[in-house]
Amino acid sequence: MRLSTSKKEKKVLQTIASEVMRDDLVLFEQQLKQQLSKQEEYLTDNEHEMYRRGKKLRPILNLMFSRMVCGSEGELPEKCYKAAASLEMLHVASLIHDDIIDGSDRRRSLPAVHSDRGVGSAIVLGDMQFLQAVNGFIDVIRVPEDMELVRMVLDVAFDVSRGEMDELLAPRTECCEKMIQRYLKTIERKTATLMGLACEAGVILGGGRRTDARRAGAVGRKAGMAFQIMDDVIDCIRTTEESGKDGKADLRNRTLSLPIILAMNSARESCLTRYMRGETEYTGEVAGYVLANGVGKAYGYARAYVDTALEYLSFFAENRYTGYLRELLKEIADKV
Ligand code: IPE
Ligand code: IPE
Ligand code: MG
Ligand code: MG
Repeated sequence: MRLSTSKKEKKVLQTIASEVMRDDLVLFEQQLKQQLSKQEEYLTDNEHEMYRRGKKLRPILNLMFSRMVCGSEGELPEKCYKAAASLEMLHVASLIHDDIIDGSDRRRSLPAVHSDRGVGSAIVLGDMQFLQAVNGFIDVIRVPEDMELVRMVLDVAFDVSRGEMDELLAPRTECCEKMIQRYLKTIERKTATLMGLACEAGVILGGGRRTDARRAGAVGRKAGMAFQIMDDVIDCIRTTEESGKDGKADLRNRTLSLPIILAMNSARESCLTRYMRGETEYTGEVAGYVLANGVGKAYGYARAYVDTALEYLSFFAENRYTGYLRELLKEIADKV
């Protein structure tokens, strides 16, 4: 396996952002700006810049699924852009809190909110993003059935919190199989549910069929699993400079990410198992061990999730959006 830091996935995403979804993203940005204006007196330039620099993957998925239902002509209903803005705010809320939990000082190549302004402010600012995100979803309610969407948003937010707690509470003493099962449950909650929501809500708000909404949710959840596994792989490979966030954060925190679990399982005793039991300090040897024994296997898991996401996507009629989405999904697991 080639261990490069190819930017291919970003390329597809960039093409989608700058060409395929360009006009929709302009309207999304306007909605985001409008929602953030309510926090004007609290947000610093650093936080505005942080919002600007995100890849906007969840809003893009959301709007692409709305487009798949509505077609490419004209603007989407306003509620689609409002929901997309809320999805990004929900994501940013989770990132602000996640950096406190992980003790990570960099986010989107900027100081993390808690390093810039202290943990207290970061907690409240994360809450603000979350509450306004929910408010944004309430804003899109037109008929009583739309209330279901708000319920879905709250369920996802609950899952993200559960996932973060599950990660913190994960015991280090289980057998490999149990650790893997626990890890997969954790990332389903902390990452996959939000991606699933982005895709499912896209179909719902676009006025699509329920069966399609459910399938879109499955595409998003499977892609989300692959995405988090690859994020954990990248954590082992890229430097802080390359990824814009603290490199080797999982290893330094002794977090049971998939590459680490799989590498631990490659031998009964190793520098890694001793480190994970807290018996030794972090060294480059430990990172090298994960790279050699866990990364390739974790990558295989990510590919399998992408394949399942592609299967669910194949239920949708072929058009330019499904085509680009397929490329994007493939690239998720093709980064190394
Ligand atoms: C980072 O998500 C958090 C994970 C779920 C792995 P992204 O990689 O989409 O982060 P931004 O939005 O581009 O910063
Ligand atoms: C994902 O977990 C964060 C959330 C879903 C909130 P990580 O801790 O792996 O994400 P990064 O690497 O900090 O972005
Ligand atoms: Mg983190
Ligand atoms: Mg984390």
